[in-house]
Amino acid sequence: MPVELPCDVQAILTENCQTCHGATPQFGAPMPLRTHADLVAASKTEANRKVYELVAERVASLSSPMPPVPKARLDAVQVASLKAWADQGAPKGECSTATTSADAGTIKTATCQAAIDVVPSSKWTMPQNTTDQYVCYGVDIARAQKEHIVGIYPKLDNTKIVHHMILFQGSTPYAETPTPCKSAASVDWRMVGAWAPGTQAIELPAEAGFPLEETSHFIVQVHYSNLGRLSGEVDGSGFAFCSTTQLRKYDADVFAFGTTQIQIPARATRDLSCNYTVPQGMSGLHLFAALPHMHQLGKSIQTTLVPKGTAESVDLGTQQTWSFDTQVWFPLNAAIHEGDTVTTRCVWENSTSQAVRFGERTSDEMCYSFTMYYPRVTAPLWTWALPSSDVKCEQK
Ligand code: HEC
Repeated sequence: MPVELPCDVQAILTENCQTCHGATPQFGAPMPLRTHADLVAASKTEANRKVYELVAERVASLSSPMPPVPKARLDAVQVASLKAWADQGAPKGECSTATTSADAGTIKTATCQAAIDVVPSSKWTMPQNTTDQYVCYGVDIARAQKEHIVGIYPKLDNTKIVHHMILFQGSTPYAETPTPCKSAASVDWRMVGAWAPGTQAIELPAEAGFPLEETSHFIVQVHYSNLGRLSGEVDGSGFAFCSTTQLRKYDADVFAFGTTQIQIPARATRDLSCNYTVPQGMSGLHLFAALPHMHQLGKSIQTTLVPKGTAESVDLGTQQTWSFDTQVWFPLNAAIHEGDTVTTRCVWENSTSQAVRFGERTSDEMCYSFTMYYPRVTAPLWTWALPSSDVKCEQK
């Protein structure tokens, strides 16, 4: 197929866009961006606009940029050349060599010997006329003998429609068959993994593993995007754990910084900052990954550590532009000590006519920074939610 694009435009699209907007669009992208014909076609979501107009708009957008978070934005020169070309009405160009698109090779799949699949018992069928759907299913894993999970990998099946996935651990089993999710996240669920296009697998530090003992209950939430209204697409995506019976030195675990003291008045913005003082029982913990989590009204979330007696702050996971659809994990390498302060700041914009509080429904809100750490705290009354319940909050 002739490409017929100016060479600068073609180079930008090949390098930054075609992993998703390729000949067969991936991860919910609605259209290819390969040839002049692709770019002058009508948009699938806004029929009266051309694809190239939306291209110029989305690469410059702050609220919904292309490529999407966590990928890096285009630089100013690239944004300007796409805009200049669109302003001229997207003329044909001379670049005709069809380059092969950069492959989606950044996504690792489980190469482990002992891989445990966390996938649905049957596949989900995406309705043709549904463009957006959150689907949940549960997987129980039982072990007679203790093992350590040392890696968490995405296991992608139908990449045309899978947009992003979240892995939770709960205290009770969840239905095995994929069905539309009842809630955004139960208040009882801890986030233990997340995947969005372009993110890596989670690999644990060499001295730690997540314990698998007796029965563990996992819940996978998959966001499907079908803006192209493809018919008959089925999917069984999930995660895979790399596990070992050769136990590592420490049990790893997950707790949450943040707060449940959330009250956002109707049609208002809330900028909430909550401080947690690290108690003696958590002194010396190593933090190795963070998974910030809010719902649909979230604008940004940031967690910082200020070690006692210092003024310097350490980033413990920041999403400056929050989007429910691109929840990702951040690798960390930090330690916390008694008396340190951890601050989680969440900003929401409530455009609805209802006041919004903390809760599990999609219309409720959350402000958690799930944090992976070791060695596991085993104090009697300890729960993963403790660091987020014992906080002092103030509004900015
Ligand atoms: C990681 C995958 C991914 C990458 C990389 C990516 N996109 Fe997208 N794109 C999507 C998805 C998913 C959608 C549909 C959801 C949305 O509109 O946000 C989309 C939608 C769009 C739309 C809106 C189309 C319409 O008709 O509504 C435009 C325009 C676009 N992308 C342009 C680009 C450009 C230009 C690049 C590169 C500079 C790019 N995208 C890179 C995944 C991606």
